[in-house]
Amino acid sequence: MSHRRHWVLIPAAGVGKRFGAAVPKQYLELAGRPVIDYAIGAFIGHPAIAGCVVVLGSDDGWWDETSRYAGNARVLRAPGGAERCHSVRNGLDALAGQAADDDWVLVHDAARPCLRRSDLDRLLAALADEPVGALLAVPIADTVKQAQAGRVAATLPRSALWRAYTPQAFPLGLLRSALAHAEQQDLIVTDDASAVELLGHRPALIEGSTDNIKITRPEDLPLAAFFLNRQAQDQATC
Ligand code: C5P
Repeated sequence: MSHRRHWVLIPAAGVGKRFGAAVPKQYLELAGRPVIDYAIGAFIGHPAIAGCVVVLGSDDGWWDETSRYAGNARVLRAPGGAERCHSVRNGLDALAGQAADDDWVLVHDAARPCLRRSDLDRLLAALADEPVGALLAVPIADTVKQAQAGRVAATLPRSALWRAYTPQAFPLGLLRSALAHAEQQDLIVTDDASAVELLGHRPALIEGSTDNIKITRPEDLPLAAFFLNRQAQDQATC
């Protein structure tokens, strides 16, 4: 095991525009608990994880009310930003008090409740001799069309396309510089790897399970419940 510690950063300051509910998607109820508690729970008991920071919106009235981690001393809080990348940057600032520049930060969406322990372990193992960073991802099964005004402009070569999931893991110092660099260029990156790619690096793709969905639309909630149920059954039979 290297001396570099592993921290978790959970951006949870989104309002869930696409979901269209009054409650942000990370606070919707899934089998009796808010979605975010599953996202945090995937890491909090893991022996390789040093601590966690959760990034919350300024008008968040749900965290203290609903999360079982609200009073947890290992879960720091940081203020949200206008876009996900700004929220992540704020979370990194909060971690910088305790974490070293070459410590790993695993950024994981609050709205991804079905991360499998085996996927997390595969990502952590990949970091042991990784010079840049790595992300969980899944090869695309469908043929992908590029659209223009409702018509097909191009068909993209499927064999080279992957869906980017989280966690995405980078050294704290590198990710901070990468997000600052993207911001200076007025680019709104939608994941952490994109910011690091803009610096010319090529993060490693680690194949993960398709269970690791992001709650985005109402139909995703029963699907997440199904995946969690199946994971519990798998564990019971191990
Ligand atoms: O909107 P999207 O699905 O990309 O959000 C991914 C994650 O980023 C969610 O967990 C959401 O709460 C978080 N987020 C954030 N700050 C924002 C926007 C999104 O922390 N301003």
